[in-house]
Amino acid sequence: MKAERMGQVRGNQDRRGRNKNRDAVVFLGGGRITGALLAGLGLAGYTKPIVVHDRNPGKLRRLRRELGITVEPDLQRAVNRAHVLIIAVRPDSVRALLEKLGNEQFGAVRPVTIVSLAAGIPLANLRRWLKAPVQWARAMPSPVARGGRGLTALAFDRNFLAAAQKEVRRFFSKVGVVLEIPENKFDAFTVTYSSSHGYHAVAALANAAEQFGLDRKTALIAASHAFADGIVAWREGKFSLDELLHEAATPGGISAANLAAMDRSGYQRAVLMGLRAGIDRARKNATR
Ligand SMILES: NC(=O)c1ccc[n+]([C@@H]2O[C@H](COP(=O)([O-])OP(=O)(O)OC[C@H]3O[C@@H](n4cnc5c(N)ncnc54)[C@H](OP(=O)(O)O)[C@@H]3O)[C@@H](O)[C@H]2O)c1
Repeated sequence: MKAERMGQVRGNQDRRGRNKNRDAVVFLGGGRITGALLAGLGLAGYTKPIVVHDRNPGKLRRLRRELGITVEPDLQRAVNRAHVLIIAVRPDSVRALLEKLGNEQFGAVRPVTIVSLAAGIPLANLRRWLKAPVQWARAMPSPVARGGRGLTALAFDRNFLAAAQKEVRRFFSKVGVVLEIPENKFDAFTVTYSSSHGYHAVAALANAAEQFGLDRKTALIAASHAFADGIVAWREGKFSLDELLHEAATPGGISAANLAAMDRSGYQRAVLMGLRAGIDRARKNATR
């Protein structure tokens, strides 16, 4: 049986020794981040095979209907298609999924590469939970990938082959900038790089503006331009952040008074506390 299977695999190999049947990037989990990445990949004209597996048939139907994605409700058949496997279930579901892969599904076929999107779960846990000789990477994208302007942090395990690293980088670069960081910086990156910061800050500024008489629509326009226009100006790279701050907040002027009052009220401390709470939450994922 084993020899038969091996013979079959050899017969299906392409010139680079890869199994031709395992041609797809397979997402395990078809929820929020998968939907956003798939939309971004579609926008970028990505045409290579993608398969999504999820335990929730309604989500699979929606992905097929809205994005034309190939879906596979059977885990084994999904894994059989995987050249690259992407773990996109919530952190508290990762261990059970990997143990299921290891015990029941994963022994028969072996995707070369597995990328985990799970926040807070270290490579050491992933290795321990899946008893199979695979190369692991972690990726931290955001739903902003939907519009092709995302940012993805990557960390590769020690045994990760250079050619496969290139492939993973290329894949995520379709939906935005790719940044490689050491794994021990992943939690700090995760809590810093969340599009929720932008939405939260816009909401807080607009709410405050409404208290001083702006209608909701005008408050949201003013608040979102305050953030977005400033960021675009900084990204153009002509001036440093300090120079831009100095230009926008003339000493003794209205903006300077505004920012000083925010700082006195604990603005920086509130941000610090927010990140600390996020990091504590991420670390809990590691103890599962
Ligand atoms: N959302 C983000 O902004 C974001 C950004 C970066 C990284 N991530 C990471 O990406 C992962 C997914 O997050 P998400 O927000 O996309 O979660 P989500 O919307 O809840 O999607 C996860 C999907 O996986 C399914 N699932 C859970 N266990 C499964 C299993 N054993 N077999 C098959 N399907 C299973 C869930 O089904 P049910 O609905 O039945 O539970 C759900 O449809 C998380 O680990 C998160 O840390 C998320």
